[in-house]
Amino acid sequence: MNKKIDLESPLQRVHLPIESANGLPNECYTERSAFDRDRELVFAPGWTCIGFGSDVPADWAVPVELMGLPLLITRDKNETVRVFHNVCSHRGMQLVTEAGRLGTGLIRCKYHSWAYDFEGNLRGTPMIGGVDQNEHKDFDPAVNGLREIPSALWMDNIFINLSSDAQPFDEFLAPLMQRWSKWVTPESLLELQPATTHGKMELSVNSNWKLAIENFLEAYHLPWVHPTLNSYSPLSEHYDIERGENFAGQGSSNYQSPAGANSTLSTWPAEQTRFAEYPVLYPNALFGLQADHFFTMTILPISETQSVERVQLMFLGEVATDDKYSEHRKSVLENWREVFLEDVFAVEGMQQGRRSPAYQGGVFSPVMDQHTLHFHRWVAKRLEPASDSE
Ligand code: FES
Ligand SMILES: [Fe+2]
Repeated sequence: MNKKIDLESPLQRVHLPIESANGLPNECYTERSAFDRDRELVFAPGWTCIGFGSDVPADWAVPVELMGLPLLITRDKNETVRVFHNVCSHRGMQLVTEAGRLGTGLIRCKYHSWAYDFEGNLRGTPMIGGVDQNEHKDFDPAVNGLREIPSALWMDNIFINLSSDAQPFDEFLAPLMQRWSKWVTPESLLELQPATTHGKMELSVNSNWKLAIENFLEAYHLPWVHPTLNSYSPLSEHYDIERGENFAGQGSSNYQSPAGANSTLSTWPAEQTRFAEYPVLYPNALFGLQADHFFTMTILPISETQSVERVQLMFLGEVATDDKYSEHRKSVLENWREVFLEDVFAVEGMQQGRRSPAYQGGVFSPVMDQHTLHFHRWVAKRLEPASDSE
């Protein structure tokens, strides 16, 4: 980095060489104002995963929240998924409060019954011009539809770009796909489908979202936090994924496919099925790519000290859907649940520790914590315009 580092600025100390760097200051994990800044400066400008396409059947509208913002996901009869701000253009009523099917094809506000179609167009404004007058010469419905947010559906993950000015989604994804090109292609990934049963789980953690990310980025804690996993996939057989512009993570060279289904992705070389990778696509999409299944964990920040982790598994062909593989899906899901639950105390413990003024961002293992620092630098770069102006 060319800019001179201001050693008095806690945020800039992340840019020092790893041996002398400190991590993000406590305030980034404990303050409401930092949470709001994360939303505006870290999440809004990029691509954020807000949930799964399989949560939204055709002809449904599903309300979700991202960091306090009410959003609405719809899927029309042609299977097109869209994301809107979940607010009526009239008096600002939250439009949809419960997930459900919209048999009429219209999303109707419960306050004055204005109605929108699945493309967000305003289709009905009853009595806007007085009793029995559903139009008014000075009111143009065409400019008063729902506000759509750019979105993309990839591996059943719904990504949105709140600021509307991010790079195109395909460009955002390209570095990771490039890395994975030795195993998969965009086409072969389509062989994976969301599991129809035993495919989802959700965990609430009492921590800032960043700590869940940081924990996923490193394998250093494996011997102490995941003794079972470490017994068959030890730390010595984990490796660091090279750090990209917008991702980092770890891989295993000794992944063992669970018994019960033995198909693998068609493009995956047979001699490499022991490889598996666990990157974070910044800011909040965590992936597990294995030859026989895939998972996404999306970290949804709820407050500065609370997050929700939502996980979805995908399998190959009928392994994803057929009843005869139900037990297999269940055992894979339960294995991951065990691993992810083991991490909760660590993530929550780090949150507790950040209440201490004796901790000032901490220090890093120059070998084992490189990804954590990579993430801190990525976050700090996005926060710096705000911190400079303070
Ligand atoms: S607030 Fe929605 S119709 Fe009035
Ligand atoms: Fe872990």
